[in-house]
Amino acid sequence: MPGIVLIGTQWGDEGKGKITDILADDMDMVVRYQGGNNAGHTIVEGDYQLKLHLVPSGILYPQVTPIIAAGVVIDPKVLLEEINSLEEKGINTSKLVISGNAHLIMPYHRAIDAATELKLGKSKIGTTKKGIGPAYADKAARIGIRVQDLLDEKIFVEKLRQALKLKNELLKKIYNLPEFKLEEVADEYLGYAARLKNHIDDTSKIVNQALDLKKRVLFEGAQGTLLDINHGTYPFVTSSSPVAGGACAGAGVGPLKINHVVGVVKAYVTRVGSGPFPTEETGDIGKIMRQRGVEYGTTTGRSRRCGWLDIPILRYAIRINGINRLVMTKLDVLSSFKKVKICTGYLYNGKLINEYPYHQTIFHNCQPVYQEMPGWERDITNSRSLDELPVAAQNYINKISQLVGVNFDIISVGPERGQTISLKRI
Ligand code: GDP
Ligand code: IMO
Ligand code: MG
Repeated sequence: MPGIVLIGTQWGDEGKGKITDILADDMDMVVRYQGGNNAGHTIVEGDYQLKLHLVPSGILYPQVTPIIAAGVVIDPKVLLEEINSLEEKGINTSKLVISGNAHLIMPYHRAIDAATELKLGKSKIGTTKKGIGPAYADKAARIGIRVQDLLDEKIFVEKLRQALKLKNELLKKIYNLPEFKLEEVADEYLGYAARLKNHIDDTSKIVNQALDLKKRVLFEGAQGTLLDINHGTYPFVTSSSPVAGGACAGAGVGPLKINHVVGVVKAYVTRVGSGPFPTEETGDIGKIMRQRGVEYGTTTGRSRRCGWLDIPILRYAIRINGINRLVMTKLDVLSSFKKVKICTGYLYNGKLINEYPYHQTIFHNCQPVYQEMPGWERDITNSRSLDELPVAAQNYINKISQLVGVNFDIISVGPERGQTISLKRI
C-alpha cells in the first residue's frame, strides 16, 4: 500500500513531525506538498531535538528521498539555513529534491505579511509573518516567481522587476515602508540559485515513478484541517490546502494513488493565532496543558492556546480528509488531571448541535457540551502497549474511537521516538 497521506486533524502542532519520523523508518519517500516555513515539525531522540520547517521529517533515514513538491512556498534563505544546519549535524541532505514549480517567498512577501497584520489591528489573523499568505496570493494572481525562474537569470530579473513595480508602490504608498532594490534582491536570490540548483527537478515525475514501482511514499501535511483555506475557520487559516486532497494537487499525483489517510489527533486541542476555539481553557486547566505539553510555537515561540478534545471537529476532519487511520499524540500530557473532558457537541441558542457547524457565527458563539471521564493520574510515558496503560486512559482512547468510528493505530506517550504504542502497522 504505497501512498499514505498524514495530516493534522486540528489547528496544527498535533505532533505530525514525530509521527512522520516514526513512519518514515518504513518509507522510501517523504513529500511536503503545501505550506512553507510557517510549519514547525519536531523530532526528539534522546537529547537530540530537531525542528524542521521546510525539509520533510523523513530526512533522518538514509533510504528516504525527501521531496519538496510544487504546492509548497519556499523561502530559499530559510531552506539553505536548514540544509546547512542539518549537514552540520551530520545529516546527509544531498538527496533532497525541490520542485521547479514551487513558488518563492520573496522579501516583500514577509514585509507585506507583517504590515497587513499591523493594519488589521485587533482583527489580525496572527500569522507567522513568514510571508506565506502574500506568496500564495501572488501565485494565485499569477505574478509569483517560481523556483525554476532561479535557473534563468534573465527571466528571474525580469519577473522580479515587474513584481517590484507593484510591490514597491504598495509598500511605499499604502504601508509607508521602504522599497526593495532590484539589484540587491536579484543578487541575493541568484546567490541562492547557485546553491540550490542541484536539488531542483521535476518532483511530480519522481513521486509518480516511485508510486508506480510500489515504493512507500508518505505525504507529510503541514498545519491542520481547521487551518485549510477552503475548509478551515476562514479567515483565521493559512493560505494553502493541508487537507488530504491537497496532497494530490500539491504533489501532482492522482487521487487513486492514495491508499491511506492518517489523521493525527492531539489528546487535547491547541491553536496559535486568532480565531474561534470553543473548547479553549483560558484558566488553570489551559495553563497546565501548556506547561506539561510545552505548548509554545516551534516557529514563532508564541504560547499556544489550549483546550479539551473536540469530537465535532475530529468528525469533520475525518469527513473532509477521508481519514481511515488515526494516531493519538500527547496522551501523557493529560496524566495530571483528576477528570478529563471530551467535547461531544455544542449548545447554540439553547439547541444541541453535534456537528461542526457550517456557519462560523455559530462556531464563534457556541458553548461546548462535555462528557467527563475519570483521569488516570499516573505517569504513562513508559507504557509501550495498550494494557500497560491505566484502564482510565484506555477508556479515554476507546471512547474517542467509539464517538468518531475510527480506531487508533498509534498512541504517542512522550516526545521521543520510542515513547510510542504501536497497535497496527500503517
Ligand atoms: P507538528 O507541527 O504537528 O509536527 O507538531 P510540533 O512539533 O509543532 O509540536 C508538537 C510538540 O509535541 C513537539 O514539541 C513534540 O516534540 C511534542 N510531542 C510529540 N508527541 C508527543 C507526545 O506524545 N507527548 C509529549 N509530551 N510531547 C509530544
Ligand atoms: P505546523 O505544520 C500551528 C497558523 C498561524 C496563524 C495562521 C496563518 O507546525 O502544524 P500563516 O503564517 O500560515 O499565514 O498563519 O495559521 N499556523 C500554524 N499553527 N501550526 C502550524 O504549522 C501553523 N502554520 C500556520 O499561527 O494562526
Ligand atoms: Mg508545529
